[in-house]
Amino acid sequence: MPVDTIFWQNGKVRLVDQTLLPSEFKYISCGDVKALWHAIKRLQVRGAPAIGVAGALGVVLGVKDSKAASGAKLAREVGGIARYLGSSRPTAVNLFWALERMRSIAENNSARSPAQIKKILLAEAMKIIAEDKAACRRMAKYGASLIKSGDAILTHCNAGGLATADYGTALGVLFEAKAQGKRIKVYADETRPLLQGARLTTWELMHEGIDTTLICDNMAASLMAKGKIDKVFVGADRIAANGDAANKIGTYGIAVLAKYHRIPFYVVAPLSTIDRGIRTGKDIPIEERAGDEVRALGGRYIAPRRVKVYNPAFDVTPNSLITAIITEKGILKK
Ligand code: MRU
Repeated sequence: MPVDTIFWQNGKVRLVDQTLLPSEFKYISCGDVKALWHAIKRLQVRGAPAIGVAGALGVVLGVKDSKAASGAKLAREVGGIARYLGSSRPTAVNLFWALERMRSIAENNSARSPAQIKKILLAEAMKIIAEDKAACRRMAKYGASLIKSGDAILTHCNAGGLATADYGTALGVLFEAKAQGKRIKVYADETRPLLQGARLTTWELMHEGIDTTLICDNMAASLMAKGKIDKVFVGADRIAANGDAANKIGTYGIAVLAKYHRIPFYVVAPLSTIDRGIRTGKDIPIEERAGDEVRALGGRYIAPRRVKVYNPAFDVTPNSLITAIITEKGILKK
């Protein structure tokens, strides 16, 4: 569903606090870069394109009250703010892509006054938002062409409106298929440990009136074996030059299952998610998160407090398991 996930309002960054959904739909304001850094780290704003937008708006926030005496000094400050924001989450390349856009536009305009550069930075952040919205719509059209009426689709994590500035990547495809009058059924993996599928994806799909069924992550295999899944659509956080794609932990397992059961496995992502500087998925940095995300559920411990935990937030699906990558420029097939 289209959501105003994150935007600029009265000198602050406003964003939907995604940690509260689906119980509460609430906007919070970040008035300084540190607050925004924490919002990204805590996943109050999350999803690759959305954290790209957060990075761009974060730079605007960071320079807002700067007293830099020259454009060159302000451009240097932008470099520092970008480095700081980039330290929040390492995997989604959209964050670094947006920060680099902001840094280079400041540098290219460093001969101008600080006031002018501040305006240019705000305009660039707005452009990134507008481009993301347009990309969502185009990916949705390309992706929907792969869906037939009657298809049952599996998705993982949340690649919807909450993860972008518009109505999503993988979920955008499903919303468009529905809008075109195709009858679809969607299975959403709950997506342990932080339950983006259970909390966010089902909420978005149901809001759009799509036939939605929530499953635990370990149920996909049995559904596939029963012939109940026709296609898989997921998003991505970083795609290497060879097409290997990092996405939420568990995606790789689904791709292996899909291959075994001869089910098409599609990745939907804007070009800003493709990192040509990284040759294969082996070089994609994978974020590891706090053990308590696995030990506890909804604030209650479900495992011994001192048990060791392995908690990578993403895994990499090799290109050999991906049927096609859907971008705003078209469908990339091998
Ligand atoms: O840790 P998250 O919730 O930010 O992870 C998000 C995902 O893995 C999404 O699938 C990905 O960013 C694509 S979003 C359009």
